[in-house]
Amino acid sequence: MKKEQNITWHDRTITRRDRHLLNNHKSSIIWFTGLSGSGKSTIANAVELALFDLGVSSYLLDGDNLRHGLNSDLGFTDKDRTENIRRTAETAKLFIDSGLFAITALISPFRKDRDTARKLVSSDDFIEVYVKCPLAICESRDPKGLYKKARAGEIPAFTGIDSPYEEPLHPEIMLETDRYSIAGCVKIVIDYLKTHKRI
Ligand code: ADX
Repeated sequence: MKKEQNITWHDRTITRRDRHLLNNHKSSIIWFTGLSGSGKSTIANAVELALFDLGVSSYLLDGDNLRHGLNSDLGFTDKDRTENIRRTAETAKLFIDSGLFAITALISPFRKDRDTARKLVSSDDFIEVYVKCPLAICESRDPKGLYKKARAGEIPAFTGIDSPYEEPLHPEIMLETDRYSIAGCVKIVIDYLKTHKRI
């Protein structure tokens, strides 16, 4: 439901382009999506470190961490996940407007929600990274012990078990974490940013 009424947009003097010139790099949303345990957070964190070492400013918005603050009122119903993705995408949009790369790491299981996030910004500004890993391998990794609990019926609507994950159809980047090392995945992302003149 749209609620804005009697609200005016204020233009600002400093533009995003000014910030890009100041920083000497562009800014985009790097949107990691994939199953729990696929390696999203680990790779997103490693990408942030690689960018930092290259002198590129970014900020990592990790799903688990956001659920401790901004999104702490949300659970895991489809509706709450949609709102989780919407808020995170709006936040990421603010970050790229501020001249930073926004790196997001959320399961973001629904295609329509990711597409809504994509549509918030221009086409160059949204880089969808599918962190692909077979469910059986994510489940065998089970870094937080959550698959075990989900199988035991202790976590309802767990993604991959009794809540769906819709694979991206045309991600800009696909990382198969059962085949490549973390360093290999980071290189793919950094090479993409260089090839597309974002950094
Ligand atoms: S999303 O589906 O809304 O994008 P998000 O990435 O924020 O999910 O949070 C996923 C994390 O929450 C998982 O990594 C896991 O640690 C935890 N979690 C708790 N319950 C669930 C659940 N039912 N389904 C998936 N992840 C869950």
